This record gives sequence, structure tokens and C-alpha cells, in this order.
Amino acid sequence: MSALMEVRDLSVGFADARGIFLPADHVNLTIEANQTVGLLGESGCGKSVTLRSLMRMVPYPGEIVGGSLMWNGRDLCTLDRRALTAIRGREISMIFQDPAACLNPVFTVGNQMTETLRVKAGLDRAAARERAIELLSHVGIASARERLSLYPHELSGGMRQRVMIAMAIATRPGLLLADEPTTALDVTIQDQILTLLAELKDETGMAMILVSHDVGVVAQNCDVIAVMYAGQIMESGPASAVVRRPRHPYTRALLAAVPGLDAGRGRAPLNAIPGQPPNLASLPPGCPFQPRCGFRTEACASIAVTLDAALPAHGSACPVVN
Ligand SMILES: Nc1ncnc2c1ncn2[C@@H]1O[C@H](COP(=O)(O)OP(=O)(O)O)[C@@H](O)[C@H]1O
Ligand SMILES: [Mg+2]
Repeated sequence: MSALMEVRDLSVGFADARGIFLPADHVNLTIEANQTVGLLGESGCGKSVTLRSLMRMVPYPGEIVGGSLMWNGRDLCTLDRRALTAIRGREISMIFQDPAACLNPVFTVGNQMTETLRVKAGLDRAAARERAIELLSHVGIASARERLSLYPHELSGGMRQRVMIAMAIATRPGLLLADEPTTALDVTIQDQILTLLAELKDETGMAMILVSHDVGVVAQNCDVIAVMYAGQIMESGPASAVVRRPRHPYTRALLAAVPGLDAGRGRAPLNAIPGQPPNLASLPPGCPFQPRCGFRTEACASIAVTLDAALPAHGSACPVVN
């Protein structure tokens, strides 16, 4: 059986004042139905750009410069705009860190939901309204009918994220792309939202890619983890293996920066790794992590960053530490 989505050697290029750089550099990922894949890495490593590229929504002036995105037997990279629009927001949906920024402040929740449902699900106004109520109840919003007349600012951050999730799942997508969906929320609300996402996932069989800089969030909510550094996947594998037996020095450093991960949720910011975060426009030759790596050898300047095993196996891109 083939995977839900196969990402093969996907690269995204940007050119700005810093020079030319690749926030996604030969990314390989396999996403199976009903699976949660965590994309983990420090801020600026390319997670958001990579995630958006999976729907071919790379922010201007970036563009996909290589690779393929197989979805239901079709390569999204070569699909025409019309076919792509039919998939975006329907078969593949996305939610973001800041739900306030995605909701229009001058329209009520009801207006926005019915409009989305009319466009995406082809319902008439009355049916869209009923479906909106159903969806809001489904994501745990009480008195859903009354909430339709509220404006986004009248809802809490957690409620707004529930509204965004309700809209994202309206068309029963096969894949939900979640970009730091709980980073803006406080800890107890974060847990509620992650639990809701897990429940929806199991109920509908959809798969999810959960992007986070938070090791604890990824460790506790994902089946598979891919660790990204400077636009490249350094390690990927089953979550339990990556967390218990991290192979790549970067993954080890990330995990070491989180105290008591096994005991509870680690929430330390990932600033405990010595050295400077990489400048994507001027990476060293070979492994981009070498300037910060405790295991660095002379060979590191000439290695190719390539995983030694593809998903679902546990692969590392470090040939020095094994
Ligand atoms: N619209 C853009 N124009 C130029 N550079 C961008 C743009 N969007 C993102 N980048 C750059 O791409 C790199 C990766 O960014 P991003 O994917 O947002 O990282 P992350 O989500 O891991 O924090 C960063 O160096 C960022 O500055
Ligand atoms: Mg981001």
C-alpha cells in the first residue's frame, strides 16, 4: 500500500539580501493515513516554509526548486492551478499558530464559517449555517448556535483555535497541516487543543503534520518525528525511538536541553544548545550543524546530509556518531 503523502527531495529556494538559501533542502518525508508526523527544530530552521510548500503555498519570493509531492498518485508539484485549488483546503487543510490573524475581525464567526462552507463544501447558506453549528459543537464549543453571532475578539485564544480547527476539518481532509497550533496558547489550553486534534484524527482517520519547536509537544503527540536543522532533515523515525535513542548529535542536543522529558512535559526554550543558530545563506560545507557539534571531526566538512534509512525506519544523517 502506498503512503498518503510521499515527499521526495523537496527543496524550496529563497533569494534575499542575505543571498540564496534553501529553507527546505532535499526534504524526504512519508506520511501514512491516520499518522501524526512531528516536524521539530529551532526557530528559523525552515519548518513553516516546508509545511506550506506541501500545499505549494510557499511565501513570495520563495519557490519550490526541486523534488516531488505525491498525493493520491499525483505529483502536486506539477499539478495545474485548478486541480491544486480543488485539493487545498479540502483534501489538505492547514491551521496556524495565531488564529486571530486568520479570522477576519469585522465578520462574525458565523459569517466566516458559512462563507468557508459555501465555497469549500458547496453548501447553501442555510445548510452551511447548520453545518457550522454542528462543527463548532464537534470541536467542543458549547452553545454553538449562540456563538455564531460573536466576533473573533469576543472569543478566547483557545476558542478561536477551535473555530479554526472546525473550519479546517469541515471537508474531512485526509491531511491536516498544523503549524505551531498551540504555541500562542497557555499550557492548559495547549493540552486541550492537542487532545482535541488527536480525537479528531482518530475519529476521521486523517493524518496530521504537527510543526513545533517544543520537544515535549512533539514527543507526546506524534507517531513519527522528523528533526530539521538549517532546512535539512537530520533524523527521522518512530517517535519513541527518536526520543529514547536519538542518533543525531543535533537531536541529542535538543533532547538534552529539555529537563525531565520522561517525567512530564518539557517546556524549556531550545536555547540551551551552545553556539549560534545557523545563517541559512552561508552554511559551512558538509554538515550544517558542525560548528555547534560536540562530536565534530575533520570528515564533517565533506559529508553529504543524507538519512541512512528512510521512514518508517529510524534514520540519521550523521555518519560520525552512530
Ligand atoms: N517570505 C520570506 N522571504 C524571505 N525569507 C523568508 C520568507 N519566509 C521565510 N523566510 C526565511 O526562511 C527561513 C525559514 O523560515 P521558517 O520556515 O519560517 O522557519 P521556522 O518555521 O522553522 O521558524 C528563515 O531564514 C526565514 O527568514
Ligand atoms: Mg514557523
